[in-house]
Amino acid sequence: MKSAIFLILCPLVILGQAVTRNHVYIYNDYGADELHVLRLQSHLRQLLGSSYVVRLINATDVISGDWKNNAALFMMPGGFDLGFIHSLGNLGAEQIREYVRQGGSYLGTGAGSYYACDRIEFGMHTEDEVHGERPLKFYPDLCSGPLFGSYSYYDYSTARAADITFHYIPTSADGTNLVSFKAYYNGGNTFNVTQANSVSNCVTLGTFDHLSNAPAIVKCNVNNGRAVLSSVHLEFGSEHLNPNDPYLAVIQQALNSDVNQRHRLPVYKSLLKHLRLTSVADQPAVNVNV
Ligand SMILES: *[C@@H]1O[C@H](CO)[C@@H](O)[C@H](O)[C@H]1NC(C)=O
Ligand SMILES: *[C@@H]1O[C@H](CO)[C@@H](O)[C@H](O)[C@H]1NC(C)=O
Repeated sequence: MKSAIFLILCPLVILGQAVTRNHVYIYNDYGADELHVLRLQSHLRQLLGSSYVVRLINATDVISGDWKNNAALFMMPGGFDLGFIHSLGNLGAEQIREYVRQGGSYLGTGAGSYYACDRIEFGMHTEDEVHGERPLKFYPDLCSGPLFGSYSYYDYSTARAADITFHYIPTSADGTNLVSFKAYYNGGNTFNVTQANSVSNCVTLGTFDHLSNAPAIVKCNVNNGRAVLSSVHLEFGSEHLNPNDPYLAVIQQALNSDVNQRHRLPVYKSLLKHLRLTSVADQPAVNVNV
């Protein structure tokens, strides 16, 4: 009798898992910056609420591919993308690529953005130079950085409060189309749009005001799926930077304005919407009288 019940329930459980795409996976292995992973984890939990399960995932589990069955989003954090390449290899990259092509969503910030480009040029003609092909190719052209001068692996001396303009597509709930504010930046890339706009399904969502409007955030359609790549770290608000660090204290001051407090989270929610995720504030209000 017990086994009959098991046989009846078992396919239902498998079926249920296959259709419930409510997991957000954040890569947490070699190459990922621990501080970025922890910030993203609590940021996404706060924005997404209880309708999604936010999980960290190691390289072994990415390569196994089981996560693809229930993933609503796969996310690569800040860090260094040579580490991602080293630990994920072709097998891990292929799992992520297939997941997105078949309708999944990818969010890459900082190193996670570089990792999803066709090829990168980082710190060219310096001792930190890194260049070459990258495996995912969600952005079909060259990504280059760092911007605003060199990058320091040892301290936050190269971090910035970058002036960006964000384009709401479609317009936001209050009818806003463009917003300008400052965003936390450290070592991220820009996107060479010469080819990308003509031959691909990419759209620029954010630009750097002081770099001739170079792209800072792009969205690309990839077969049935989509990727949002961001050079700036909108998961970091002023309150998330360590005030005891002399470099971050300066950025904390710069980010601590009404305009930044007002725009950072709505802009992030708009990125999640592009990725087909529903943030807490977007869900219909619960009717307490029912
Ligand atoms: C990866 O994570 C899983 C848990 O999901 C764990 O069982 C496994 O030991 C981890 N592998 C490594 C190499 O850390
Ligand atoms: C974009 O790529 C083209 C061709 O590869 C190159 O000529 C141009 O300088 C690049 N632009 C930027 C902003 O990197």
